[in-house]
Amino acid sequence: MAQTFDVVVVGAGPAGYIAAIRCAQLGMKTACIEGWKNPKGAGALGGTCLNVGCIPSKALLESSENYERVTHKFDAHGISISGAKMDVAKMVARKDGIVSKMTQGIEYLFKKNKITWLKGWGKLASRDAAWKLEVTSDAGAETVEAKYVIIATGSKARHLPDVPVDNKVVCDNIGALEFTEVPERLGVIGAGVIGLELGSVWRRLGSKVTILEALPGFLAAADEQVSKAAWKVFTQGQGLDIQLSCKIGKITTGKKGVSVEYTAADGSAKKLDCDKLVVSIGRIPCSDGLGAENVGLKLDARGFVEVDDHCRSNLPNLFAIGDVVRGPMLAHKGEEEGVMVAELIAGQKPHIDYNTIPWVIYTSPEIAWVGKNEQQLKAAGIPYRIGQFPFAANGRALGQDEPDGFVKMLAHEKTDEILGVHIINTHASELIAEAVVAMEFRASSEDIARIVHAHPSLSEVMHEAALAVDKRALNM
Ligand code: FAD
Ligand code: NAI
Repeated sequence: MAQTFDVVVVGAGPAGYIAAIRCAQLGMKTACIEGWKNPKGAGALGGTCLNVGCIPSKALLESSENYERVTHKFDAHGISISGAKMDVAKMVARKDGIVSKMTQGIEYLFKKNKITWLKGWGKLASRDAAWKLEVTSDAGAETVEAKYVIIATGSKARHLPDVPVDNKVVCDNIGALEFTEVPERLGVIGAGVIGLELGSVWRRLGSKVTILEALPGFLAAADEQVSKAAWKVFTQGQGLDIQLSCKIGKITTGKKGVSVEYTAADGSAKKLDCDKLVVSIGRIPCSDGLGAENVGLKLDARGFVEVDDHCRSNLPNLFAIGDVVRGPMLAHKGEEEGVMVAELIAGQKPHIDYNTIPWVIYTSPEIAWVGKNEQQLKAAGIPYRIGQFPFAANGRALGQDEPDGFVKMLAHEKTDEILGVHIINTHASELIAEAVVAMEFRASSEDIARIVHAHPSLSEVMHEAALAVDKRALNM
């Protein structure tokens, strides 16, 4: 007899495991299929985010930032340290420890919520009265049945055609988190989020980093003023060599590393020799091998599962969430979709405002935003006012020796409703939360301007930016 469930979730990344937990909380008999194995060969929950994405990359960011503080920043505080050394193996082991704590945490949550973990790879087989899924593992194949199915199979790194990734010399995100020593020369293809975050990690630890980007613009998704400020800090302040408008040609891997031939912005033929190469040119949905063709599940031309605003697919009782569907590839976006779908199945009426999903790029300084940027408002013909305030005029930021950046608030010219907030600063990831709450409550800039913010704190910069919308910033 096949095991039967109310809900089977395929994939246990942040979208899938959160969906499973919420389904179980709502009283549904829930299973989650996941075949990921950690480097020791044991099954692991948590998907890209916990194993080879958000969590390990942020662990390395912290280590490399500490190293940079010790070697470059402590001196200004009167602290002198000589002989500071970086033990890369220890740094990577610390990161691995955090990953295993977090992934085991999900196992604990599955047990606590009585969620069945079906270890293996899931495939849609057929549907009559119920959905039938095939689960394949080293132990063989079994069929399970479910009233509802939630696809949460995530994404994987996009590779360049004809450039094999061995994750030793030519790496995607997986190999780039596992270097055993600091490469002297690191090449990166793609100046997107991963290229900038991981490029910064290895630069701080001493690599000479060159990033080759295809587009003529830098960080096009961010507010232009933020991208410009970031460009200045990264290239002039920190020495990241970022080259735009590059056309990548032949890539050769040899004993001495990698050689990348490319055409530069001015049309000249160039060559980049490096010890390691990170290819970070975006991610593609994991929808192959899912059995979409067996059941008539609609995918778009790029392989994303087609869904509506509530993550419903073209088939009854089948939903898809997270990186495998449209929208930003962000862990918290997938998590909220997981909650929404579980609540829909339970007969509730949840909804996600995709406009208030925050974005964070964990460079140093960090970049964070929510809502619309100035280019988007201009293009849509929406009238707006701008309030901007620099961290350089904030006592706490100076005390922390982190004066770079600003908060920029955009509010509707007539109604004063906050339409977007853009931050570049070391603690932008934390500060953006206030703006998200404000926008969810459809606050005006005046609402933030009238709220008491603790002194001295970085949050005062948000307060002053709100005051600045009405041209009444107090400390400038
Ligand atoms: P995934 O996390 O990709 O999980 C999908 C799971 O499904 C995997 O475990 C996979 O094994 C499983 N699966 C696939 N096919 C099957 C199948 N047929 N059967 C069973 N299981 C299957 N986002 C942020 O918001 N903040 C960050 O700081 C951040 N940092 C990142 C850093 C890096 C280096 C990378 C690569 C990504 C980062 N992201 C970040 C993006 C984030 O990791 C993804 O948006 C998120 O993991 C998507 O969640 P998901 O559950 O949709 O998919
Ligand atoms: P990305 O989409 O952020 O950036 C890819 C970059 O590569 C783009 O600038 C693109 O123009 C460039 N590119 C594409 N093809 C190229 C080519 N042939 N030659 C040179 N450049 C090329 O993708 P990335 O950095 O791989 O990250 C994937 C996704 O993972 C992100 O979009 C994001 O959703 C998620 N992520 C989120 C993080 C966060 O929230 N802090 C951190 C890391 C990843």
